[in-house]
Amino acid sequence: MVGGTTPNEARLLIVGLGLIGGSLAAALRAAGFTGTIQACDPDPGEIARGIEMGLIDAGDTRLAPLVEGATLIVLAVPVLAMRSVMTELAAALPAEALDGEAPRVVITDVGSTKAAVRDCALAAFGRLPAGLVLGHPIAGSEKSGVAAANPRLYVNHKVILTPAAETAPAAVARVQVLWRACGAEVLEMDVDRHDQVLARTSHLPHLLAFSLVDTLARQDERLEIFRYAAGGFRDFTRIAGSDPVMWRDIFTANREAVLASLDDFEAGLGRLRQAVEAGDGDAMLAIFDRASHARHYFDSLLNQTSYQAEYQMQEQGRLTFRAAPGGRVAGRIRVPGDKSISHRSIMLGALAEGVTEVKGFLEGEDSLATLQAFREMGVAIEGPHQGRVTVHGVGMRGLKAPSGPLYVGNAGTAMRLFSGLLAGQAFDSELIGDASLTKRPMGRVADPLRLMGAKIDTAEGGRPPLKIHGGQALKGITYDMPMASAQVKSCLLLAGLYAEGETRVREPAPTRDHTERMLTGFGYRVDREGDTCWLKGGGKLTAAPIDVPTDISSAAFFLVAAAITPGSNLILEHVGINPTRIGVINILQLMGADLRLFNEREVGGEPVADLHIRYAPLKGIDIPVDQVPLAIDEFPALFVAAACASGTTRLRGAEELRVKESDRIQAMADGLATLGVKHSVVEDGIDIVGAGGSDIAYGGGRIDSLGDHRIAMAFVVASLRAGGEIVIDDCANVATSFPGFTELARVVGLRVSEETQEVRA
Ligand code: S3P
Repeated sequence: MVGGTTPNEARLLIVGLGLIGGSLAAALRAAGFTGTIQACDPDPGEIARGIEMGLIDAGDTRLAPLVEGATLIVLAVPVLAMRSVMTELAAALPAEALDGEAPRVVITDVGSTKAAVRDCALAAFGRLPAGLVLGHPIAGSEKSGVAAANPRLYVNHKVILTPAAETAPAAVARVQVLWRACGAEVLEMDVDRHDQVLARTSHLPHLLAFSLVDTLARQDERLEIFRYAAGGFRDFTRIAGSDPVMWRDIFTANREAVLASLDDFEAGLGRLRQAVEAGDGDAMLAIFDRASHARHYFDSLLNQTSYQAEYQMQEQGRLTFRAAPGGRVAGRIRVPGDKSISHRSIMLGALAEGVTEVKGFLEGEDSLATLQAFREMGVAIEGPHQGRVTVHGVGMRGLKAPSGPLYVGNAGTAMRLFSGLLAGQAFDSELIGDASLTKRPMGRVADPLRLMGAKIDTAEGGRPPLKIHGGQALKGITYDMPMASAQVKSCLLLAGLYAEGETRVREPAPTRDHTERMLTGFGYRVDREGDTCWLKGGGKLTAAPIDVPTDISSAAFFLVAAAITPGSNLILEHVGINPTRIGVINILQLMGADLRLFNEREVGGEPVADLHIRYAPLKGIDIPVDQVPLAIDEFPALFVAAACASGTTRLRGAEELRVKESDRIQAMADGLATLGVKHSVVEDGIDIVGAGGSDIAYGGGRIDSLGDHRIAMAFVVASLRAGGEIVIDDCANVATSFPGFTELARVVGLRVSEETQEVRA
């Protein structure tokens, strides 16, 4: 059986037994429909074939004899034939059969345009009967006739119903059951909206295919063209092979909406023509890049899930990691590029004058979301290809208004930095994110931006979405940050680029300074004195190459893995060791880790080194409070180190951990509790009592990562000292910061596998 409940109709009458009507009958039969199915068709051969195929029980070329006793009538005739069919039905059916809260007879149709069919109904019945439910299954095929009927034609396709105010909800429900039984997803829309949407998504593409194929088919060298038809043109000929009569009817019926979409298309084509004529490569690239990524982008936006197709599929199921206990880590590896720097490379590259070449870009969900958002604002961006991205800067005032909300997925950094940057633009914008990001606080950026003169609306409690009203004159402010946040600092500095005068930000403790370094690298002056940094608005950025170091936050998982496991010996290459990021190194060394930096050098304004770590017994420590902001993303991994150290590790002053991708203090505490690690939680930290020794430190168990990438990876690392398997649920978001994590973990010796669990029925 394909769909949900089978329809409880005594007699179904299909008017027009072609591919669409025949496939409906076939699907219902396959779904176990036990009522009678009859069909009316002007072609007696179609009826005979339908009976022979076992799709229908009986049929006739005349409508009137079939109407009596029918409980559900499906009109599967061309739109232009609708009027005469409805007039016949109106004459054959007693008026009250279609009226009331639960009409005895329900009529629905499959026409591709709805306003025209509604007009036919008004003309035929003199009103819109309660039992009339207009609908449109978005499915078809170039084949025609009942012989081509396909019971799976509607499986996972959408059916749009367009009920009117007069339509009885009970009638809508019966039509819903009908289509769901065929495996379709049923949606509702109003008639005009339906026609506009279909004009753009279906009618216009068909119009273009008909026109293009016809134009080329009438040129002198047409034989050559068709002989070499391949790729793109072949696809056009496939679409242009659709039923001409049906399409004539559709364009006649949906004239206004089709013309409006054609006008938009002509304007777009005009812009592209201009770019080609002027040899404007950037303009072409901006259009092509945006278009070539549009499908993924809109899929992820619609589902509010991840950007990359492979992870989208995993999310439809749920990604689980299974880590077998024990093992050790050894080898020489390179983790992916730094997330913070990758975000900023796109942002500043886009606003710069000139072309920015980026190497080592993190091809993770978060930074890809930033990249795509800039494409939406008209920036031409090539790549990423193996970490290389080319950003064709548009200058400080060159961004264009996006055509809809900008979706930044799971990325807090993107949303907060964007808010500052967008507050300075001339256009309005809206920032949205996934379920986790939608719960995170944005007042911390919206409030100071408002002090600068920005106009920003948030949802309740300062949560996303953020609506940013463009065209505001920003003024520089002096802002004393209430929390040590690089995102807030960076947001204000980016807004400050557009503000009059100086924007000064004081931080209560040092936070990562990638924005300041990169601005300087792009020729923009940023000053610092003690805990305050500032810049003056109105300058410009000049493109410069960016070599993204690998992410110390990703390296941290492997540092801890080696630090806790006897026999481990690991080298991590090219790791970013910016002094504002090395809390994890300092803390591990304080705990007694055998961790050495070598090959120290500077690339593109950021210090990097290779890290060599070997096992050494760890001891619990009081984590110095000044290290907390410098290790803020590494605590999930460090908690695992603490669970293996001898004695208690005490963390305080880390309340910010509660507003990360999850409440990381609680999420880690819950996981540690599952493994049997003794700990006690306080508002701003945790005490963890480590097992010490060199053997099994705690048990195994099943852990919920709460969709937080770093919680998931931390518990994979924990398996090295566990007594049993650790199973971690909800791990798809590991792709936000560390694509390929489990592969790399296996390379160094962890025994982790991935498994997708179906969540769909
Ligand atoms: C980041 C800053 C930190 C960090 C985040 C990335 C950045 O957030 O946790 O993963 O790139 O600026 P806060 O600014 O909220 O501390």
